[in-house]
Amino acid sequence: MTILITGGAGFIGSHVVRLFVEAYPNYHIFNLDALTYAGNLENLKDIEEQPNYTFVKGDITDETFINKLFEKHKFDSVIHLAAESHVDRSIKDPLAFVKTNVIGTMILLNAFKNLWKDNFQNKLFYHISTDEVYGSLGQTGLFTETTSYDPNSPYSASKASSDHFVRAYGETYDMPYVISNCSNNYGQNQFPEKLIPLFINNIINNKPLPVYGDGNYTRDWLYVNDHAVAIDLVFHKGKNKETYNIGGFNEWKNIDLVKLLCEQMDEKLSRPKGSSEKLITYVKDRPGHDLRYAIDASKINKELGWQPSVTFEEGLNKTIDWYLNNENWLHSVTSGEYQSYYEKQYS
Ligand code: NAD
Ligand code: TYD
Repeated sequence: MTILITGGAGFIGSHVVRLFVEAYPNYHIFNLDALTYAGNLENLKDIEEQPNYTFVKGDITDETFINKLFEKHKFDSVIHLAAESHVDRSIKDPLAFVKTNVIGTMILLNAFKNLWKDNFQNKLFYHISTDEVYGSLGQTGLFTETTSYDPNSPYSASKASSDHFVRAYGETYDMPYVISNCSNNYGQNQFPEKLIPLFINNIINNKPLPVYGDGNYTRDWLYVNDHAVAIDLVFHKGKNKETYNIGGFNEWKNIDLVKLLCEQMDEKLSRPKGSSEKLITYVKDRPGHDLRYAIDASKINKELGWQPSVTFEEGLNKTIDWYLNNENWLHSVTSGEYQSYYEKQYS
């Protein structure tokens, strides 16, 4: 079986690529990634020489290139993660999100459909999506697979749109697909624009920790390796044309999470208790900021036997250790473009 994984040089993609390359020597894994600011081949250094792995640099919005690639390698399945993924960037440049997340997904869907339309047997298009498509919850309730889509940010609207197109290809062309919608991931190799790695990096450098609004926003956090395991399960055992919600059963208010992070960082950096907390700075809120996301992951739990393997405290501990032991990685991704992004976003 040949599998095309898109966005494999990014945060979640790199964990998925590694899992598939190591667990399935009889599959050939192609990793297609444009290597935007978020993509980094360092994330896959340990597996780049594996015989069942091939990296291809390319853009999913380049239709001619994508069609040729599909013609050449005849991918049996696609696991599609490539995306613009950061809400704050989507507020500043929404069109970039439409291009990659909507048009790019369409181009992949077309290439896959055109290749296999005469016989879709044993073929699968697996689209990786987010819980943000469901919009915002109040203080109670959980997102289930039947919750109506109600996206609020350009990012979530672009992901919602791509989900709809995948579903529409399933209905219209009988193309086999699965979609999973996951909550906030954290773990090693996450680009330090997202809350946890950004705050780890700022604590290391004694910089302010910019908490948006009053900090009372809630997210459900999942360790990235647990997401990769869930993706493996959905890919192999998920039912055709179904959606699976994936979450950590692990809700945290931002401010409580940040305080826990500060506590663990003080200990690890041997700084006096309370040092990192002093860096907390409340800043202007994100426009359209969703109050709360929380996933009901009972379907994947009951049907596929999946559950998270680590507690949040363990996962956070491992994540901090990784960033402290990989300061070169952190340094290389925070030089260059990152500086101007940071200025624009936080000045
Ligand atoms: P990321 O930003 O870390 O990585 C995205 C990758 O896609 C990068 O390697 C980038 O180079 C590549 N890419 C971007 N545009 C491309 C293009 N036009 N052509 C080819 N490659 C391109 O993102 P992530 O956090 O790893 O998220 C991966 C997927 O999972 C996304 O689809 C995202 O919507 C979804 N998701 C993320 C989270 C999360 O918490 N991070 C949660 C749920 C779902
Ligand atoms: P983020 O990691 O950007 O993920 P998402 O917006 O996809 O949930 O943000 C997580 C939460 O942290 C969200 O409520 C916004 C908040 N946040 C801050 O308070 N300050 C920051 O600098 C960032 C990046 C996020």
